[in-house]
This record gives sequence, structure tokens and C-alpha cells, in this order.
Amino acid sequence: MLTPHWLPTGWFQVGWSGDIPVDEVRPLRYFGRDLVAYRDGGGTLHVLDAYCRHLGGHLGYGGRVQDDCVVCPFHGWHWNGGGNNVHIPYQPDRPNRSRRLRAWPVREQFGVVYLWHDVASREPSWEPPNIFTDTGPHTAALDYHPASPHGLIRYGALPLHPQLVLENAADPIHFRYVHGTRHHPVFLRRWEDDAHWFSQIGFGSRWREMEPDSHNGDTLSILAAGVGLSFTSLSGSSNTLILLSTTPVDVGTSEMFQTVWLERLPGDDVPGAVESRIDAATAQLPHDITIWSHQRFEDPPALATVEGRAFADLRLWARRFYPESAGAPRLLSAANGTVQLEGEMRP
Ligand code: FES
Ligand SMILES: [Fe+2]
Repeated sequence: MLTPHWLPTGWFQVGWSGDIPVDEVRPLRYFGRDLVAYRDGGGTLHVLDAYCRHLGGHLGYGGRVQDDCVVCPFHGWHWNGGGNNVHIPYQPDRPNRSRRLRAWPVREQFGVVYLWHDVASREPSWEPPNIFTDTGPHTAALDYHPASPHGLIRYGALPLHPQLVLENAADPIHFRYVHGTRHHPVFLRRWEDDAHWFSQIGFGSRWREMEPDSHNGDTLSILAAGVGLSFTSLSGSSNTLILLSTTPVDVGTSEMFQTVWLERLPGDDVPGAVESRIDAATAQLPHDITIWSHQRFEDPPALATVEGRAFADLRLWARRFYPESAGAPRLLSAANGTVQLEGEMRP
């Protein structure tokens, strides 16, 4: 196995809420599939498979919203948020009840749009975390700037697998070599459950005198939720929350998003102050991306004794999100950008 499976199960970011205004339609492509997102008149976001079941028109290119449905640009068939055909304009008494579009589970939280992906089409078994309350006990009491607009950063399609980004949570040593910290940061605590893997890392020498739960001493807490979402809380003289998301697009390619919420500080009303704090908070990620984009997935890796336990625990935990270990279809090929699964039925 050179890389883990490219169609992991879980919640993945597919954009921000502002990308899809009320009554608008957008094409999406993730997990080797063409999708369409639209926001109905009531503000609810829907994501469906992109190809109209009439003659295969792509609903994301020229489709429009009417009566809470997306209307196909080709012959005007109406598809509702559940993926049902509810109206054929030239046969108004008889919509097609047998053909359906797959409707994908969607969540929106703090302006982030999440899509649930599962090759076996199972319903979501957990929910995306709340970055303001779930990354540490102290952040809920703090006051943050909205992430939008400067804290929404798209890195586009990159040749990397989400697992590589996820493994940041098990890798305090790289901070010294990639990011130039003076000391090796160390783990203060770790825990995991079915959907989450948490680690708190301490920087510098100050952490040594502190309680593990301290948030005054340059700590980085990472809450991974599935393999595609890393919720990060940086605590020290100021507090920053960052969601780092990695979403497979096609085999070999993922799209990365970074969403940054800064704690409000005195002096933030000076023009440019918030932007320069965001620049500082995000300046290091391109160094990681360069590593990840050229990295080969070593399995098993060669690990030093001090780092072995966390990597082993994380890789074992992450296996549950990959279909080949969950009895779901196996990836057979990804020729011409089309993902083909074992036993997959053509519509
Ligand atoms: S292809 Fe969509 S209505 Fe004909
Ligand atoms: Fe890093």
C-alpha cells in the first residue's frame, strides 16, 4: 500500500457558506464525483449528484433554483433537495418517481460547509466538532473575530493525501525542522474515541512548569475528526483557532482549506492589524504543504522510539475511516479521473 484509500469515510469540508448564496447553484467535484450544490429560498443548502437523470445534463452549469428545487438547464426538470424529480414542465401531472439523484448529507457550522462521504452510503455516525468548545476548555469563554473574509484561505488542488496532513497531530518533532522552533515540542496529553484523535503539544521550555491543561504556555491542541478535518487551537499570548481541511478530489489529488478565527485583542482596530495577524498565523503552512506534496507514504514507517507510539496509535485509529478495513467496496481503478469501485452499479 503506497497511500491509504482515496475514498475515506467521514465529514469533509467542501467550501464555505458564502460560496453558495440563497437561490444559487454551484458545481462541485470531490471524491471522484461530479456534484451540484444549491441553496434553496429558505437558506437550506443541498448537495446532489450533478447529472440530471433525464438525459444527463450537469445541473451545476446553468441550473437555477425554483420552488426549493434545482431546475435542469437542459429541459427544465425539477429536482428537490432529497434528489426526487418533482416536476416535468411538459408533463406536469407525472413527474418521474423512479429515477433519483443521490442526496449527500451536508452540515454548515460557523460558515464552514461539510459533506459526509461514505462509499457504502451509510448515514453519518458522528457530527463535525464545534471548534469553539471542543478543542480546549478555555476557548469557549474567549471572543473571536469572524473568520470571514481574511481568514478563509483556499490552497486549491494539491497532490497529497489527507492522511499526511492528519499525521501532523502525531508529529511534534517536525516543528523544529520544518518550522524552526528552538526546542522539540512535546506531547502534553492525548486521547481518542471513535471519530476523534486529540493531542496537545507544548512548545518552548515554559510548558515544563505547567499543568497539562494550561492554556497560557504556548500550546497547540489538535482535534482530528476523521481523516480530513484538523481543528487546531493555538494558545499563548493570544489565542487562534484554525480548521485545516483536506478533501479528496480525485485519486492523487486533494483540496486544502484553512479557516482562521483570531481572538479579539486590543489594537485590532488599527487598519491592517487583523490581516497581519492572520498572515503570521498561516505563514508556516506552505512549508508543510511543500513536504506533503512530495512525500511518499511509508508503511510501515521507520520511527525513533520517542515518536513511535503516537504514530502507531494514530495510524491504527485512522484505519476505521478507510473502506478496505470496514468491509466496504475496494477501489479498483481511477482511470481518466473516474473512480471505479468494486461492485459499483452503473445508474
Ligand atoms: S437532461 Fe435534465 S431535463 Fe433533460
Ligand atoms: Fe507543520
